[in-house]
Amino acid sequence: MDIDTSALFAPIIINGHTLKNRLAVAPMTRISATQDGRATETMTRYYERFARGGFGTVSTEGVYTDQAFSQGYAHQPGMTDETQANAWKPVVRGIKAEGAFAIAQVMHAGAISQGNRFRDTTLGPSAVQPKGEQMAFYHGHGRYALPAAMTESQIADAIHGFAESAGRAIEVAGFDAIEIHGANGYLLDQFLTASTNKRVDRWGGATQNRVRLILETFKAVRSKVGAKVPVGVRISQGKVNDHHQKWADAERDAEIVFGSLAQAGADFIHVTEYEAWKPAFKPGGPSLMHLAKRYAPEAEIFANGGLHKIEQAIAALNDGADIITIARGALANPDLPRRLSDRRILNDFDPAILGPIANIKDSELAM
Ligand SMILES: Cc1cc2nc3c(=O)[nH]c(=O)nc-3n(C[C@H](O)[C@H](O)[C@H](O)COP(=O)(O)O)c2cc1C
Repeated sequence: MDIDTSALFAPIIINGHTLKNRLAVAPMTRISATQDGRATETMTRYYERFARGGFGTVSTEGVYTDQAFSQGYAHQPGMTDETQANAWKPVVRGIKAEGAFAIAQVMHAGAISQGNRFRDTTLGPSAVQPKGEQMAFYHGHGRYALPAAMTESQIADAIHGFAESAGRAIEVAGFDAIEIHGANGYLLDQFLTASTNKRVDRWGGATQNRVRLILETFKAVRSKVGAKVPVGVRISQGKVNDHHQKWADAERDAEIVFGSLAQAGADFIHVTEYEAWKPAFKPGGPSLMHLAKRYAPEAEIFANGGLHKIEQAIAALNDGADIITIARGALANPDLPRRLSDRRILNDFDPAILGPIANIKDSELAM
């Protein structure tokens, strides 16, 4: 490989914490926890392998936040009590032992929950049938259930679940930082999206109202974990059940979403698009990562989407991104940073690696 990758290896400080390089593992649901939501020994080996491979930051998969409506998938890990939080300790120790920064992603699936052992019904901002079908890949089948519109007290419960789980992730499990999952069609993004949020109260209507749940969740998490813990939010236009969704008010929406997150004090914003470098709206226009940096210059911008193409990853650092997050490319190359510094070729992405961790051979986990 004949490219200068040094920009990817420059350290960066986020809210007083030094990340040793710009390469991060993006959150990836692995449906590999115990049935009651505890992280396992195999998960420790899976996560620590990325840190050993040189990633400066390792983020968990989306972790559910309460014992009511948040769980999205069977065998998803949770952070809803001390037992689940304790089960993360070896994972965090493994990541940190290799010198990486450990982020817990907290997530509420809302209307697109397809496997929740606590409830048979789903909640969302409004009683709107979710698009698409459940993901067979995560053991779902058929259409999503029609959600019930959340009451004020259910909204308060969801916010509380995020805050309490974030607190456990930091205080009990030992994570360094929290990422609130505000993207990809899950609960917080259902509120942000006009087609799934038909509310006429303060949580619906104008973009300023639709972003409110993300902001209130951020504030509750911040007040739980304190000012010194990095807290960020993941934001997208596309959704797992609607890949091509775009914000109706385009750049004006970007200004409201990113600007309000900056004002709330987000330490980082994680933007994801199918191909991060493409114009977010009109041909020839700025990318979403560029807009995030423009409207939230105080926040570090994590950029995601197709950035295992290393030329694009380097270009992204000049287009608003501060950290590059990689999902599929990290599964194919758990040692991607080491490969780059050793100038070795990267493995191609093979869709078979997307399955649960149980499908990864023991000999490979030990690598
Ligand atoms: C198997 C798999 C599971 C994923 N689970 C999550 C998740 O739990 N939370 C999340 O925010 N994104 C999740 N994603 C999306 C990735 O973080 C990322 O946005 C997407 O794969 C595009 O990045 P890439 O081109 O580097 O693969 C998942 C992706 C994959 C492939």
